[in-house]
Amino acid sequence: MKVTIVGSGYVGLVTGACFSEVGIDVVCVDIDENKISNLNKGIIPIYEPGLEDMITRNMKKGRLSFTTQIKDAVKDSEAVFISVGTPPDEDGSADLKYVIAVARDCGKHIDDYTLVITKSTVPVGTSLKVKNAVQEELDKRGVDVSFDVASNPEFLKEGAAINDFLKPDRIVVGVENERAKEILKKLYKPFTLNGHPVLFMDIVSAEMTKYAANSMLATKISFMNDIANLCEIVGADVNKVRKGIGSDTRIGNKFIYPGIGYGGSCFPKDVQALIRTGGEHNYDLQVLKAVEAVNKKQKVVLFNKILKHFNGDLEGKTITLWGLSFKPQTDDMREAPSLEIVKRLLEAGATVKAYDPIAIEEAKHHFGDTISYYKDQYEALIDADCLAILTEWPEFKFPNFNIVNRLLKNPFIFDGRNIYDRFEMKAKGFDYFCIGVDT
Ligand code: NAD
Ligand code: UGA
Repeated sequence: MKVTIVGSGYVGLVTGACFSEVGIDVVCVDIDENKISNLNKGIIPIYEPGLEDMITRNMKKGRLSFTTQIKDAVKDSEAVFISVGTPPDEDGSADLKYVIAVARDCGKHIDDYTLVITKSTVPVGTSLKVKNAVQEELDKRGVDVSFDVASNPEFLKEGAAINDFLKPDRIVVGVENERAKEILKKLYKPFTLNGHPVLFMDIVSAEMTKYAANSMLATKISFMNDIANLCEIVGADVNKVRKGIGSDTRIGNKFIYPGIGYGGSCFPKDVQALIRTGGEHNYDLQVLKAVEAVNKKQKVVLFNKILKHFNGDLEGKTITLWGLSFKPQTDDMREAPSLEIVKRLLEAGATVKAYDPIAIEEAKHHFGDTISYYKDQYEALIDADCLAILTEWPEFKFPNFNIVNRLLKNPFIFDGRNIYDRFEMKAKGFDYFCIGVDT
């Protein structure tokens, strides 16, 4: 079986690599010529653990290839996955122009039955638009080629994408008929060996499931951030509260870690897009509006703690940041809390030094030379007035605190990810500030 994946970003590359890993012939397509030329040389455009190895292995086996030519790719593919970006429009709704452009390309070039599957995160009703776009192009050609559309939203997490794809909790598939169902059942069979199911449903429900899932996860995080802020005020410790509620299986212990707000390319945009979908149908998604508002506020919480500790004056102060990416194990900087924090620090007149194990090159696209970058986490501390932790990279969890203490001008640590024990920090001589604990 041969499949085409259109859009070779985070989702497209992981999907393509994982399908080829189980023996399926995959062609990944992208309009970015530079990206494709690099991929053909074995240069992977993103940092994702395990991805480079998997891509090079399957390229060598001849099961995975990259091209800019969708025309050639779709010709003998039974299934075409659309995995291009759906960034927010000016009003927050999902911009579908890339998805529809690919649908049109499919209509222009398919010669035989093809299943066109939308994997990008798209609002309810998009698969119908995809169907119409394919059909319009077929009509323009005056040909009668049969095709179906399906919705197959993706649930992988960056940094753990390969594992999430190979061993998914579930695979959600929206189809209109048995033929489409059988193709997707066959494609996903190798990924259901861990016992987790492919959930078949109608297309609208599949599209809605993706937004509902991301919105629920974002809701858990904003809820915990709100609780964390209240914990500080009333003298409770949110780390204990988190464990206390997380051991109730109805609540669960995942995605209830307070911090400096959720970032990344998905939660912020998908929450916004669902609010817009509600609006389009005159339905006010009040909970989600609060989730978004809390998240905006939370991105400034750590900055406010730093400002307060320096008596409202950061002019001339040097702040060292450990971690810039929106989460560990990725170089993705999209909507990273560091973007807001750096902006505020610079506006307040501070000098910012930063260390991140992987995201420095990406960060340079955002901050340019407004901050300085270090290759060593300790070197970044020299002459700094304090350290702020913005991403919970494993290597920050057990640093040599003697060195940290010696290099910092003041022994002040602002921990946006609650990775240290406050009593230990105190015992080591630090003024330690975290989220949701009145230190
Ligand atoms: P991305 O920006 O990393 O990659 C998108 C790719 O599509 C780019 O390389 C771009 O050049 C290419 N592209 C755009 N138009 C094209 C066209 N007409 N033909 C061929 N290629 C084209 O995006 P991503 O992070 O992989 O996200 C893709 C979709 O998947 C989005 O809808 C996103 O919400 C969803 N999603 C992302 C993740 C994630 O963790 N990043 C997880 C689940 C779902
Ligand atoms: C998220 C979802 O987890 C994936 O299931 C989904 O497929 C993806 O969005 C998507 O649609 O693109 P991702 O954004 O890669 O994945 O990363 P997460 O691990 O979900 O983290 C998102 C943000 O939430 C990060 O900034 C992280 O620091 C924050 N977070 C996460 C918390 O603040 N607390 C938590 O308990 C968990």
